Amino acid sequence: MPRGTGDAVLKCKNYIRSKYFLMLLPDDLIIKNNCSQSMIKLHTKYKSSIIASKKVKKKDVSRWGIFDLKKFNKNSFLIKDVIEKPSIKNAPSNYAIIGRYILPKEIFKILQNQKPGQNGEIHITDAIKTLIDKKEKFIGHIFSGKYLDCGTLKGYINSSIEISKL
Ligand code: G1P
Repeated sequence: MPRGTGDAVLKCKNYIRSKYFLMLLPDDLIIKNNCSQSMIKLHTKYKSSIIASKKVKKKDVSRWGIFDLKKFNKNSFLIKDVIEKPSIKNAPSNYAIIGRYILPKEIFKILQNQKPGQNGEIHITDAIKTLIDKKEKFIGHIFSGKYLDCGTLKGYINSSIEISKL
């Protein structure tokens, strides 16, 4: 995705008819539990946007988008803000964005007018931040499946080993 996740999503604009859509980043695998299904359940319950999340080590926060949040039960929280790959110092929590999102169709309009962010990319995280500022409700879902990150070389090798054991 050389122009960023947001630019990639924009390419699908004409295929989306419903008010919300499910988006999966292909290098984030979740095994042993159907994460998309539990996100759809939450969406049906709260009628809001949903993003998958996992707690990560503080020293690793700069690898992911990170949430500022208000927890309301063991596995869910209200998202107050998102920051793409913050420094350890600036990270508002150690709950990371994992690449599964239920997003409103309005995000396309925002992406179309969005200026490039970090590394000159159009980030989906920045569009989500704009929607949060416009008071769109976003809920974080701490899923119970096992997360395999294929977005780094180390993670990719580890994921292959884990999958070979299934
Ligand atoms: C993307 C997102 C980031 C998210 C991550 C999950 O980053 O921009 O917010 O935490 O996916 O894997 P990328 O992996 O493309 O660097």
